[in-house]
Amino acid sequence: MISVGVLTVSDRSARGQRADLSGPALAQAIADRWPTATVAATGIVPDEQAQIAATLVRWADDLRLDLILTTGGTGFAPRDITPEATRAVIGREAPGLAEAMRADSLRVTKHAILSRAVAGIRGRTLIVNLPGSPKAAVENLTTILPVLPHAIELLQEAPDAERHHNE
Ligand code: MTE
Repeated sequence: MISVGVLTVSDRSARGQRADLSGPALAQAIADRWPTATVAATGIVPDEQAQIAATLVRWADDLRLDLILTTGGTGFAPRDITPEATRAVIGREAPGLAEAMRADSLRVTKHAILSRAVAGIRGRTLIVNLPGSPKAAVENLTTILPVLPHAIELLQEAPDAERHHNE
């Protein structure tokens, strides 16, 4: 099974002032549409770079999740810092995923241009930023869902192949 983490980034949800609808919407979309994946971790953190980054590192390095989806904090508001937190922990960027999401979303709303979402790889974990609203988060996931199984397959193959070289 492919293990997925869903991390909601929201000051208000972290304080309990707003129900987290996006995290559950993403988990439901994965359950409905990706039979070989399971949501192995969920969490809510405020829009604080250190807390976002620490969670991404823990989920990638300790839980060894295959995929982490973040939702929220990718816009222009002063506290929107998810892309910076993500960039701080990835070793390699995967710009095509964010490019495709923005391109598809542009057909839904001009505001897609305002998404600063990034995607990238930490070790064997793919990390993808999604927007904050449940509708936008699921729409963006829908764009990349068809390529995610192959992306994760490639990530998992590479280190194995290298290990076999040393045997
Ligand atoms: N993408 C889709 N598909 N649908 C949407 O409604 N909203 C946009 C954009 N991407 C949207 C979308 C808006 S309004 C913003 S500000 C950015 O995502 C960033 O959202 P965030 O700040 O909630 O992360």
